[in-house]
Order: sequence, then structure tokens, then C-alpha cells
Amino acid sequence: MPQAQIIDGKAIAESVREEIRNRAASLLETTGKRPGLAVVLVGEDPASQVYVRNKDRAAEACGFHSVKHTLPADTSEADVLALVSELNDADDIHGILVQLPLPGHIDESKVLRLIRPDKDVDGFHPINVGLLTAGERDSALVPCTPAGSLVLLKRTLGETLSGKSAVVVGRSNIVGKPMASLLLQESCTVTIAHSRTRDLPDVVRSANIVVAAVGRPEMIKGDWIKDGATVIDVGINRIPAPDLGPDKTRLVGDVAFEEALGHAGAITPVPGGVGPMTIAMLMVNTQTAARRLMG
Ligand code: GUN
Repeated sequence: MPQAQIIDGKAIAESVREEIRNRAASLLETTGKRPGLAVVLVGEDPASQVYVRNKDRAAEACGFHSVKHTLPADTSEADVLALVSELNDADDIHGILVQLPLPGHIDESKVLRLIRPDKDVDGFHPINVGLLTAGERDSALVPCTPAGSLVLLKRTLGETLSGKSAVVVGRSNIVGKPMASLLLQESCTVTIAHSRTRDLPDVVRSANIVVAAVGRPEMIKGDWIKDGATVIDVGINRIPAPDLGPDKTRLVGDVAFEEALGHAGAITPVPGGVGPMTIAMLMVNTQTAARRLMG
């Protein structure tokens, strides 16, 4: 059985970031301005702290103006809303990202809806969701993980995905639904499968393109993958790894990677696949927002 091509998300993300760095440098040279990103973290969730630190560092490495707001877990909803309003009005900020999840006493959707749609670099505002769904991608800001997954697909399969069958496993607002919208706009024949889908293995087996975003470790088995299919694994799951020692863990995706290698034509690894693309696409969105806002 031939082995699948492993899609190097780290290398592709680095090439995207290099392009962003070059564009930021020429913007600075011609206008004296930098794209500005504000990242807001409420509380001390360790995973969120890592994500926010990585986003802040990536922005600086791209030559952006980057501001990190870290607020205590007991910050009132009113104070978070006031900060978002301030960032909405700040001329040197073009992208606003509020790290999720927010503490339970804060209404997430109220906060996300207050972010100016043209600064909403997560693409979670209903205006951006609507623009993407309506096929007006060029005026929307698209959520970073699905946007990055699409870049990986195009770098692997070429720019034209038209006519291919795609199954998206997972129906979240952050990944599954926007991914399905993007693939539909690429003229794929799209199925959204989820935890209630009947005969899931057969549904997955029908697809040329599989995007796995269910958040369940290695749920999608190798023999569910059609021979030669392209597999994008969005899952990042930490599982116990007793073979590495007591209390050790490892990261795995939603796809049983080793098994899938014998079936897929190409597949993203975890880590090193979709993960690095997400932050690269946040930089792309921040630069896009800055370009539109600077006029
Ligand atoms: N938490 C987990 N993923 C994300 C994301 O893509 N954006 C934000 N803002 N928070 C997250």
C-alpha cells in the first residue's frame, strides 16, 4: 500500500507568514503604518494563555503593532464590553480577537457581537458569518482555522477543487460550518456529518476530501478513508501516553493517523498540520482588515 503524502502545515504556514512580513515591511516603508492586532484574554486558562502568547508573538514577528490585554477572571461583563468599545475606536488597531472561552458570567455572544465586523479577525461576528454564507467572501473576514485548512487543500490539490466531494465531520460555528461554506464556494459537493450521522464510515468513505473537526481522539479510522483522498485533521486532542512513561501525554488528531497513511493520498499530521496555519491566517486577516480600514 503506498504511503500518503504528509502535508507540512508548518512549512506552508511559514511561507504564508513570510509573505505577510514582506507586505507589512512595504506598507511601513510607503505609509509609515503597521497593521495593529489586539488580543484580549479574560482569566487564567493555561491553554488560552499559550494561544494568546503565540498570537501576540506571531504578530510581532510579522512586524505588526501588537497589544495584549490580560484581564482577571472576575472582570465584569461591562468592563470587557468597555474594552472592546475602546478597541473598536482605536485608530492603530485593525484586528480584535477575544480569546474563547470567556468565564461563565460573561455572555460570549454579546461580546463577539460588539466587535466591529471590519475588525473581527476571528470572523465570528454574525455579519461576517452572513457574508461568507452568502458567497461574499471578498468582503468578509473568514474564521482562521477553516481558511487555513482551505489553503492546505489548495497547496496540495491545486487551486481548483471544483466538482470534488467533500465531507466535513463536525458542525461547529468555528470550524465545521464555515469550512462547509468555503468548500461549497469552491464548487465542491459538500456533506456536513456529525455525531448523529448514520453510517458515518460510509459517508466519510464517499469523499475525495475529508475535513475532521469533531474533537474526538482518533475517531475516524483508517479504513473509513477512500483510497487517495485528501485528509485535513483539525483535531488537537491530548491523550495519555503510558508508553512514554507514567503521566505522559501526546497530541493526536481526530483521525487515526497511522492507519490513514495507508489509504489517504495526502494527510495533515497533528501536531504540525492545521495548527500552525490557524495563527498564520490570523495574520492574513489582520493585514486584510488593516488594508481595508486604511483605504
Ligand atoms: N479558542 C479556541 N479557538 C479559538 C479561536 O479560533 N479564536 C478565539 N478567539 N478563541 C479560540
